[in-house]
Amino acid sequence: MNQNENKNAIIRLFHVHRSYGNKRALQDITLDVAKNEFIFISGPSGAGKTTLLKLLYLGERVNEGQVLVDGINLSRINKKSIPDLRRKFGIIFQDYKLISTKTVYDNIALVLEAVGHNRSQIPFKVRSVLRTVGMEEQINSYPPTLSGGEQQRVAFARAVATDPKIILADEPTGNLDNESAAIIMDLLIRFHTRGATIIVATHDMELIRKKGGRVLILKEGCIYSILFQESPRKLRR
Ligand SMILES: Nc1ncnc2c1ncn2[C@@H]1O[C@H](COP(=O)(O)OP(=O)(O)OP(=O)(O)O)[C@@H](O)[C@H]1O
Ligand SMILES: [Mg+2]
Repeated sequence: MNQNENKNAIIRLFHVHRSYGNKRALQDITLDVAKNEFIFISGPSGAGKTTLLKLLYLGERVNEGQVLVDGINLSRINKKSIPDLRRKFGIIFQDYKLISTKTVYDNIALVLEAVGHNRSQIPFKVRSVLRTVGMEEQINSYPPTLSGGEQQRVAFARAVATDPKIILADEPTGNLDNESAAIIMDLLIRFHTRGATIIVATHDMELIRKKGGRVLILKEGCIYSILFQESPRKLRR
């Protein structure tokens, strides 16, 4: 077996660099994320957390180095395959990014239509994911009439509607109160248990401490440390 092969990794970064003009957003990042891992990316504002997530789904391109996602080398991907790559991801943002002029139903249905989901199954699928996040009753509401926590649950439903292998969450609880944050964390944990790989960018150390797991700490674009936070349940034993 090639020594660089890691069959257990779904995401691999080799010596990745990304700059914006003179600003080095990421420097020499080498990292494997295992299939079905739940990993946090932390570090201060400007450390490169969002940039790292964007490189995975080709929201941005690397300047140097390589990124592999589920066996696809993103430096070699052809344009036609980019939608297939994006379909591997469900993405949740701090500011929800729902379409405010569309109903909750349409926000999710549009994504399912875009990926070519069987049309006759879309209403069923939308209801099913909204039930999962406890938002079925708000199916005909418009996002601006919902609380932040409710909007994030809809955004979560939209992210998982296409059954992605990998869920990326960029400060998913950054705008939420503790109760809503706990609901979103529970949903992430539930999808992790179902087999998804989860990457959460956050500077909320409390959130990390409660969940436990591997934590990549970035500082000024570099890997400052990779630590393993024992889960509280294990600590109690
Ligand atoms: N499109 C861009 N143009 C110019 N500079 C950028 C761009 N995107 C990011 N940067 C710079 O790259 C660095 C890393 O940004 P990034 O958004 O990845 O940080 P972050 O860790 O996500 O920060 P935060 O916690 O504030 O979200 C910052 O210095 C930022 O100003
Ligand atoms: Mg960010």
